[in-house]
Amino acid sequence: MAENNNSRLNSIEDAMVFLDNAIEFQELMVRYSCAIREVRTKLEVLNDDLRIRKGRSPIESISYRIKKPASIIKKMKKRGYDFSIPAIRQNLNDIAGIRVVCSFIDDIYDVADMLAYQDDIKVIEIKDYIKNPKENGYRSYHMIVEIPVFFSDHKEPLRVEVQIRTIAMDFWASLEHQLKYKQEIKNQEVIVAKLKDCANVIAHVDSQMQDIRKELEENSTEKEGTFLDKFEKISFGSII
Ligand code: GTP
Ligand code: MG
Repeated sequence: MAENNNSRLNSIEDAMVFLDNAIEFQELMVRYSCAIREVRTKLEVLNDDLRIRKGRSPIESISYRIKKPASIIKKMKKRGYDFSIPAIRQNLNDIAGIRVVCSFIDDIYDVADMLAYQDDIKVIEIKDYIKNPKENGYRSYHMIVEIPVFFSDHKEPLRVEVQIRTIAMDFWASLEHQLKYKQEIKNQEVIVAKLKDCANVIAHVDSQMQDIRKELEENSTEKEGTFLDKFEKISFGSII
């Protein structure tokens, strides 16, 4: 009887500990989503500023995600860490992830520099898979940044992974990513080789598009517009 009571008591205690951990985990995820919002706002501000002052928007789109609990557990296990909240915070840099898609390669470096230059941003790590593509052909510019987030009773530095790539690199990475989710792929080597070919073609196209833009900027002048033509440029539609 006593044994039964004990085991019931134990299981309630276990449940309490489990719930405490779950709440703490949820709080951490919410804090990471706040960090994403901070970095996103910085990127949107840069884009708006350049659009208004220079007439060009380097960023095509921004997407973001919080790493799934299952993926967090898998990665912690794979790397041999225990499952405590401090261990997750200390060892995983990609719980908060932002993907920035630009039209041109130069825009990628401009956006990365402008973000890194901000004095509340600390750059923890950079992996330039554009200058050094991965063996499979993957290209993208990766930054791990740390940003202070101000909560009701404390300030906390949180890490965010920012991946910056062109539209073409993003198209390639989305298709290549599907390889990871297929169990048995017939002709896998052929597909891997085709993807590598496509990566090379895409790199060539990205660089050609960059050259064309540069030539257009260097070898052309704005058409002389009438007073009304200039007025046409003023619009607040996409700002709000
Ligand atoms: P992960 O353990 O996968 O996070 O790798 P890592 O910590 O060494 O970081 P890395 O900067 O190499 O990659 C981080 C992220 O970039 C991945 O989670 C993917 O989203 C993306 N990525 C990296 N390599 C590839 C690739 O070969 N193909 C695709 N599609 N995405 C990749
Ligand atoms: Mg990752």
